Amino acid sequence: MQDFKNKTAVITGAASGIGRALARQCAEEGMKVALADIDEKGMESLSRELTEKGAVVESFVTDVREFSSVEDLVRSSQDAFGDIHLVFNNAGVMLGGYAWERSEDDWRWVFDVNFFGVVNGLRAFVPVLIEQGEEAHVVNTASIGGLMVGPFLSPYIVSKHAVVALTESVYYELQTLEAPVNISALCPGAISTGIVDSERIRPEDRSNKAPLGSPLEREFDHMLTEGVKEGLDPGEVGPMVFAALRENRFWIYTHPMMEESILPRARSIIEGTNPLYTPELTENLLTEE
Ligand SMILES: NC(=O)c1ccc[n+]([C@@H]2O[C@H](COP(=O)([O-])OP(=O)(O)OC[C@H]3O[C@@H](n4cnc5c(N)ncnc54)[C@H](O)[C@@H]3O)[C@@H](O)[C@H]2O)c1
Repeated sequence: MQDFKNKTAVITGAASGIGRALARQCAEEGMKVALADIDEKGMESLSRELTEKGAVVESFVTDVREFSSVEDLVRSSQDAFGDIHLVFNNAGVMLGGYAWERSEDDWRWVFDVNFFGVVNGLRAFVPVLIEQGEEAHVVNTASIGGLMVGPFLSPYIVSKHAVVALTESVYYELQTLEAPVNISALCPGAISTGIVDSERIRPEDRSNKAPLGSPLEREFDHMLTEGVKEGLDPGEVGPMVFAALRENRFWIYTHPMMEESILPRARSIIEGTNPLYTPELTENLLTEE
C-alpha cells in the first residue's frame, strides 16, 4: 500500500503503548483514525491530542474479546468514515508464571484478548475489506514471543504463536483470492509500554489471578518488567510499520536480534535435540540488539 492520505485506519488497543503510537502515525500520514479500546479515558486523551493537531479521529469503546463488540466497531467506523483501509488487530495483555499454576481465568483472559481478539478482528473486518474491492491491509500484532519460546510466560507466548500461525494462514488464503487485501505480522521485541502492567485493565469476569508463588517466577517477572521499561520507545514502531506497509512486507520486526532468538530453536527442532534452557533465552526476548 502506498497511499494512506484520507484513507481510514482502525486500531484496537489504541489507548496505550504501541496502539497509541500507531494512531499517531496514522494521523501523521493524513489518515482518518478509528480508535478502539476498553480504556475510554486513554482514548479520550489521545483523541484530544490528535484532534488538536488537525486529525480526524473517533473513539469507539470496544472489547475485542466479544465478536459483537468488534462487529459494532466495523459498523461505527463505516458510519463515521466510509470504507476501511487499514486494520490493526493490536490489543493485547500479558502475564507470567509456571504454566501449570496459572488459573483458568489467567489462561482464558490472555487467550480471549490476544488470540480471539485477533480472530474476531479477522472475522469482522476481512469480509468487509474483500467486499470493498479496494486496496487494504491488516496488521496483526504478534510478538517476538510468537517466534521463540522461553519459560514463565506460556499463556502469552502460546497465544502469540497462535497469532503468528493464524496470520500466515490468512496470508495464504488471501493469495488464493487474489484480493487487493494484504496482511502482516508485527513481531515486536521489548517496547516500553504498559504491557507489563496488564493487570490494570483485567476485567471483573476474569479476576481470579494466580499469584507468582516462587522466587524464580518473581525474579523473571522483575526482569521482564525492567526489560520492557528499557525497551524501544513506542514512537519508533509507527514509522517501522508504515515502511513495511509500503514494501508490502509480511514480517514486521522492531529489533535486529531475530537470528539469535529463532535459529537455536529452529536448529533444535530440525536436528531433534532437546530444548536447552540458558539465561540468554530470556535475555533474547528482552534485549534490543
Ligand atoms: N510492549 C512490548 O514489549 C510488546 C512486545 C511484543 C508484542 N507486544 C504486543 O503489542 C500489543 C500492544 O501492547 P502494548 O505493548 O502497547 O501494551 P499496552 O498495555 O500499553 O497497550 C495494550 C492496549 O490494549 C488494550 N486492551 C486490553 N484488553 C482489551 C480488550 N479486551 N479490548 C480492547 N482493548 C484491550 C489496553 O486497554 C491497552 O490500551 C499487544 O498485542 C502486545 O502483546 C508488545
